[in-house]
Amino acid sequence: MCSTEPWITLQLTFDKAMQISTDLVLERYVAMQGDDRAGFILINTGAQFPGYIKILCVSPGFRGKGVGRKLMQFAEDRIFRDFPNMFLCVSSFNTGAQRFYKSLGFHVVGELTDYLVEGHSEILLRKTIGPRSTFKPAGTAGTAGTTGTAGTAGTAGTAKN
Ligand SMILES: CC(C)(COP(=O)(O)OP(=O)(O)OC[C@H]1O[C@@H](n2cnc3c(N)ncnc32)[C@H](O)[C@@H]1OP(=O)(O)O)[C@@H](O)C(=O)NCCC(=O)NCCS
Repeated sequence: MCSTEPWITLQLTFDKAMQISTDLVLERYVAMQGDDRAGFILINTGAQFPGYIKILCVSPGFRGKGVGRKLMQFAEDRIFRDFPNMFLCVSSFNTGAQRFYKSLGFHVVGELTDYLVEGHSEILLRKTIGPRSTFKPAGTAGTAGTTGTAGTAGTAGTAKN
């Protein structure tokens, strides 16, 4: 992950990535293709800013094969079960990913200039199914710190521990 864009430009070190990915407030899901890890997604379901997708990364050899779309569909099903909003940030220079998220129904709601590195913005995107005041959670299936598998071979595997 750290050796590919956008994280090279964002100066994300391996240590920092490990720190983020072991944050217990995040749910972590891995997309498996056979024995290979094709990608992963980290979702914040904690009290602060729930529904925020912290990181989505498809392994370089698996990009452009539908893994990202499946991980995002999995995340959408997971988040909208308990929260009415999905959020994520995409870098201003990551125009390919911006098109990807737009095609999934995300809208720009803000821009954080010079947020991670000087000269580049983080663009805040949102997808919503309604206001919080009228939203009724379907259940409490997920718990903070959950780790699971988001299967990529047509199944929507949701193994959790
Ligand atoms: C961006 C990323 C998550 C997309 O996942 P992916 O598995 O490569 O994308 P998919 O194969 O599921 O593509 C889904 C759709 O998005 C489009 N798309 C995906 N990546 C795209 C890109 N970089 N530029 C333009 N379109 C893109 C595909 O054409 C496809 O459209 P279609 O369904 O109409 O054919 C993945 O390429 C990735 O991890 N990139 C590097 C890291 C990154 O940018 N992460 C996001 C940080 S916010």
